[in-house]
Amino acid sequence: MPRSMFQSKPVVCLISGRGSNLEAILRTAQAENWQAACGIQVVRVLSNERQAQGLEVARAYGVPADTIAHADFPTREAFDAALAEAIDRHAPELVVLAGFMRVLTSGFVARYRERLLNIHPSLLPAFAGLHTHRRALEAGVRVHGATVHFVSDQLDGGPIVAQAAVRVLPDDTTETLAQRVLGQEHLLLPRCVRWILEGRVRLNGERVVVTGARPDELLALPR
Ligand code: GAR
Repeated sequence: MPRSMFQSKPVVCLISGRGSNLEAILRTAQAENWQAACGIQVVRVLSNERQAQGLEVARAYGVPADTIAHADFPTREAFDAALAEAIDRHAPELVVLAGFMRVLTSGFVARYRERLLNIHPSLLPAFAGLHTHRRALEAGVRVHGATVHFVSDQLDGGPIVAQAAVRVLPDDTTETLAQRVLGQEHLLLPRCVRWILEGRVRLNGERVVVTGARPDELLALPR
């Protein structure tokens, strides 16, 4: 068996709320038996919010979960330092922002360069920031979606790994649109996590190259 099959590939997930993307990762990891297949294991979930529902999601899958509440720290730097310390205890190969709603300092981003992955509910670079679904409806775009990308210094910026698009329908509300995008997020994020930890993803400048990915996996398009 190739050596990589025995290598442990720890992943730490950061969350702030509901945790449905975390759940998608854990469910897919279980269904595809990631640990046996390629050594991938989500070893810790950290939340910056005590009330995050995702903490219970983690525990339901047997993954230890802690809160490091940003509100307990006087500055962004102090919070990020505590977060980094908690992350580094697990020596992760990848840190996944699975619905993590804090802006991170450039020092934190630099520390996890090329190891920090984010999912954002828009087709970046359109609609960085908050309220993406409402803004997409207001802008009248016909296509919307989600993006998985490595994290750079810029808000919701960084090299794009893959995207999923959904049609904006004439009678869409913020809620119906959000729901359809979320359904795509749950397919997109686990797929990207697996690709990266299988060693199929490399950066070529600002562009991401994924070995052996189908075009419809790199960009899931609406029918
Ligand atoms: C998801 O839609 C995710 O894309 C978004 O927050 C939601 C979290 O939901 N992330 C961002 O907006 C990051 N800029 P979840 O907690 O159910 O996964």
